Amino acid sequence: MAVTLAFVVMIKTMSSALAADPPEGPNLGHPVTEENITRRDMSIMPDGEGLPEGQGSVAEGEALYKQHCVSCHGQGGLGNSGDQLAGAIHSLTDEWPEKTIGTYWPYATTLFDFTRRSMPMNAPGTLTNAEVYALVAYMLFLNGIVEEDTVMNAKALKLIEMPNDDGFINVYDADKPDQ
Ligand code: HEC
Repeated sequence: MAVTLAFVVMIKTMSSALAADPPEGPNLGHPVTEENITRRDMSIMPDGEGLPEGQGSVAEGEALYKQHCVSCHGQGGLGNSGDQLAGAIHSLTDEWPEKTIGTYWPYATTLFDFTRRSMPMNAPGTLTNAEVYALVAYMLFLNGIVEEDTVMNAKALKLIEMPNDDGFINVYDADKPDQ
């Protein structure tokens, strides 16, 4: 009898506790802040939409590359533990295709997005926008796509046509009746 009573009291206490303070959720995490959203809302579209202000030269990019990238990507982007970034000999139609920036990437704007978002692999998110522009300029120079005296910024990057631009089917264009 005493046990039953204790049980009933326990249930009553529990249910009144629940009624007094209904949980709003699993109580995990914390509200997302504006700063959090801004830091993650950084996608650059193929047409360059979303590219930030700032600029950087091939020469600045070379210095930054030696500091932050060469250990993994090798001298002149020829590859090491990280991917080869330039100097591909084999095209995509060869038996062993080399998918480097110059032979594979259809949009130069993606290079900005990828580098800013994920490189250097051991410290992503640490580069400023100007540093990313400089590194993009240097990587494009290594692939023979821009001249050595290039200063890269949003406007210039949007205008670049990549060598493998035609190697991809643009689904939006393919849907058009006249194509
Ligand atoms: C700790 C090693 C490391 C460092 C340092 C590093 N990377 Fe990388 N990087 C990688 C690896 C590994 C990959 C392949 C990642 C994958 O395929 O997902 C990669 C991929 C890339 C790619 C894409 C290549 C492709 O064609 O798919 C680019 C561009 C790039 N890195 C640029 C840079 C730049 C610029 C820096 C210096 C700011 C840098 N990386 C520093 C390891 C590194």
